[in-house]
Amino acid sequence: MSWLSGFEPIVQADAPLAPLTWYRLGGPARWLVSPRDVVELAAVLRRMRDAGVAWRILGRGANILIPDEGYDGAVIRLVGPAFEGIFVEEDEVDVGAGADLPRLIQKALGAGLVGLEALAGIPATVGGALRMNAGGRHGEIAQFVETVGTLSAAGEFRTLRRAEIGFSYRHAELDGLVIVGATLCVPAGDPLAARERYREIWLDKGRTQPHLNARTSGCIFKNPPGDHAGRLLDAARLKGTRVGGAEISPVHANFIIARDGARTADVLSLIHLARERVCDETGVMLETEVDIWN
Ligand code: EPU
Repeated sequence: MSWLSGFEPIVQADAPLAPLTWYRLGGPARWLVSPRDVVELAAVLRRMRDAGVAWRILGRGANILIPDEGYDGAVIRLVGPAFEGIFVEEDEVDVGAGADLPRLIQKALGAGLVGLEALAGIPATVGGALRMNAGGRHGEIAQFVETVGTLSAAGEFRTLRRAEIGFSYRHAELDGLVIVGATLCVPAGDPLAARERYREIWLDKGRTQPHLNARTSGCIFKNPPGDHAGRLLDAARLKGTRVGGAEISPVHANFIIARDGARTADVLSLIHLARERVCDETGVMLETEVDIWN
């Protein structure tokens, strides 16, 4: 019996992944799996574990780089009402992993809850944002987390408190777990001031970063302690450097843009080139922030 026996309605074979990513790069997934609820997700996870099938979760595809050969395993998407709910009760927000982060911010503001606007302009699902503790200069998602609901690879549900998750800069200790939802604590405040802050962050990003619709994965490298990857890459005169169709943004040196004809291999070569140049010139070995699938 194949591992997907009985799951045919929710599995697509040889599914193109490029259209599901911000970069619009990379080959197909051997299987694309869209479970309809948490119970079905748990069942799929158990079946895949028993069959030794490798899997990854795909959120909004904004911080990942998929190889040109694609992904030889199952890619799971948490889409649909069972995964995208946002429920506000006083200063608590229960949110599904598949919910859109910008929609969550708006819904919280609409309910008079403020703070999440610090995450303005970050394209992500809530699950993706939690997985990498998304954020920027104005804040990060971890600061709002009370608990995160997870499934293990064996399909077992467990609620983790924030202190158990080991959040740090662009990092969470959630390896091997599927995030299914979270409870956030977002205090009541002045929504007008929060909306103004939201607008200012947007404007600031618009001035200093490539357009949000550009084919990028956000920042390529993490900031090294006490410095900024963008500053180091810029000082190494890398802005505008190209490999094939991949180009280091002339606007912000920590973004790589995919131009027409780009392949993932071009982006990877450019990452390698940039990292070597910065290391030669400064001794700092930059770490990638973008999640490179393999
Ligand atoms: N800088 C340069 N040249 C550049 C880019 C930046 O000299 O090409 C200098 C700036 O002038 C500034 C410093 O580097 O003095 C920092 O730049 P910026 O304010 O743009 O912040 P960043 O550290 O590069 C971080 C996050 C961004 C987030 C912004 C704003 C990381 C790696 N980057 O960027 O997050 O949007 O702050 O909040 O944490 C992302 O995570 O994908 C991302 C883009």
